[in-house]
Amino acid sequence: MNKLILIGFMGAGKSTVAADLAVRLNVPALEMDELIISRSGFGSIPEIFAAKGEAFFRDLESEVARTLAQQSNLIISSGGGVIGRPENMEQLKTNNGIVIFLRSTFATVISRNGDLTTRPLFRDGKLALTLFNERAPIYACWADITVDTDDRSIGEVCSEIVSGIESLACHPSP
Ligand code: S3P
Repeated sequence: MNKLILIGFMGAGKSTVAADLAVRLNVPALEMDELIISRSGFGSIPEIFAAKGEAFFRDLESEVARTLAQQSNLIISSGGGVIGRPENMEQLKTNNGIVIFLRSTFATVISRNGDLTTRPLFRDGKLALTLFNERAPIYACWADITVDTDDRSIGEVCSEIVSGIESLACHPSP
């Protein structure tokens, strides 16, 4: 199977959808944030941001994207900021990667980001909204498939993704 790359803002549901898709499609799911944490030598993302700053985190994120370039048969749940560097997306898309944008309104991601301590860039609501508005068109631009997640169950979202992949296979882009 192709490599699937889930993108979207913090709280869009990437990890939950990746886990469900992994069961449906019988392929492993992988969390980029977990790979970043294990490379960093720290215990969590807030610790990385606090000790080394965002730039250090972003460099690790790019390193992880490079390690995933040649892989296939895998579902990748990315961090919401992965689209900040186009090179990250180029790396992730290498080897026939299909990019799936989980689209949500800001109200929905606010309601899902209960534990803000795990997301340094969500602690300030104003900053989060600015990031959301800046990123929305970038996610859309990279997406091969866009799926709305507001008021929809994980099952509905995953079914739409699977149909989207099937129709891409029937109508491959030039
Ligand atoms: C970030 C999103 C987080 C994590 C880090 C930065 C972002 O991942 O990578 O806190 O810039 O949007 P999730 O999208 O899984 O929360």
